[in-house]
Amino acid sequence: MAAVTFEHATRAYPGSDRPAVDRLGLDIEDGKFLVLVGPSGCGKSTSLRMLAGLEDVDAGAIRIGGRDVTGLQPKDRDIAMVFQNYALYPHLTVAQNMGFALKIAGRPAAEIRRRVEEAARLLDLTAYLGRKPKALSGGQRQRVAMGRAIVREPQVFLMDEPLSNLDAKLRVSTRTQIAALQRKLGITTVYVTHDQVEAMTMGDRVAVLRDGVLQQCDTPRKLYEEPANAFTAGFIGSPAMNLLTEVPVRDGAAVAGDVRVPLSRAAVAAAGETGTVTVGFRPESLQPVPAAEEGFAVTVNVVEELGADAFVYGSLEGPGAEFATADVVVRIDPRTGAHRGQRLRVRIRPGAAHVFSSTTGGRLPA
Ligand SMILES: Nc1ncnc2c1ncn2[C@@H]1O[C@H](COP(=O)(O)OP(=O)(O)OP(=O)(O)O)[C@@H](O)[C@H]1O
Ligand SMILES: [Mg+2]
Repeated sequence: MAAVTFEHATRAYPGSDRPAVDRLGLDIEDGKFLVLVGPSGCGKSTSLRMLAGLEDVDAGAIRIGGRDVTGLQPKDRDIAMVFQNYALYPHLTVAQNMGFALKIAGRPAAEIRRRVEEAARLLDLTAYLGRKPKALSGGQRQRVAMGRAIVREPQVFLMDEPLSNLDAKLRVSTRTQIAALQRKLGITTVYVTHDQVEAMTMGDRVAVLRDGVLQQCDTPRKLYEEPANAFTAGFIGSPAMNLLTEVPVRDGAAVAGDVRVPLSRAAVAAAGETGTVTVGFRPESLQPVPAAEEGFAVTVNVVEELGADAFVYGSLEGPGAEFATADVVVRIDPRTGAHRGQRLRVRIRPGAAHVFSSTTGGRLPA
């Protein structure tokens, strides 16, 4: 087991005008589960491959357990990687697939058998050890890929979207299993996904990347409650946070129609008195109010029923609507019922608004 550090690690692919990963700095404590998340093309796989030694590091350094591994071959880094496509050998049995790396390393047969059987027990694969991969379900294949990593007893696990070939239900149960297994084994893990729900449910900490640049690395709760900028605010959370852009600042508040969001002095100073800010509020931070009260008018376009919750996707109407660039999402009690075309009046719960700079996107103290 070991801590992992990215020190301003940069990768610029030849012929590209901008680094795919730009001065990435991350500290992952020994035994922790870190998730790298972000939209397609933001540099997640490149970051993981740099750590694995499969991609050059053009500037900066990478350390595993305090040791600078930047120039080391993948085989000398004591890591095990689980890929999206599992890359199992079709002509080998489950047991042979799982023990393959140990066999190459010249371990004695008895030790290989013991380690494979132990991993199979952990992963519920004992009954399948003699089968070939083609005779397994997708979820079982995924577990064999995990098993192959586990038997190596590496210092670090690296996983790149290991659940993306599974159906939605299996993804949910498998992500819980992987998270539980990681906690049990206590092996430092770096896990890549583009799915923010997966990131939030699995990681001790989550690092959000955008265009090769780290936006924020925090616990899931901190990311949700205190996103460091408007991008992270919009990326983390499902449905996404509502964002009103270029809302003018007047008399110490952001003013959208007849809604006033009081601002701290620091926020006003950062925006300038006649400047603007971005105002964010989550679907659950809106509450219905009587027609005469301060609030937004929302016309319901779609109601999404999820059983325990329901979400209204609606258009902001009247004063303040000019700041909305997309449908506003409101969480409602499903028992109250709402239907297309209905008009709601909602307000932002006091203290629940997030405020971001119009220029940098950075969080302003509310
Ligand atoms: N071998 C390569 N040569 C040149 N450019 C590359 C190469 N691999 C990736 N890129 C570019 O680097 C950027 C980051 O790619 P990367 O694969 O790390 O993204 P990602 O976050 O893993 O995306 P996804 O979620 O789609 O897997 C992208 O713009 C991509 O086009
Ligand atoms: Mg990728």
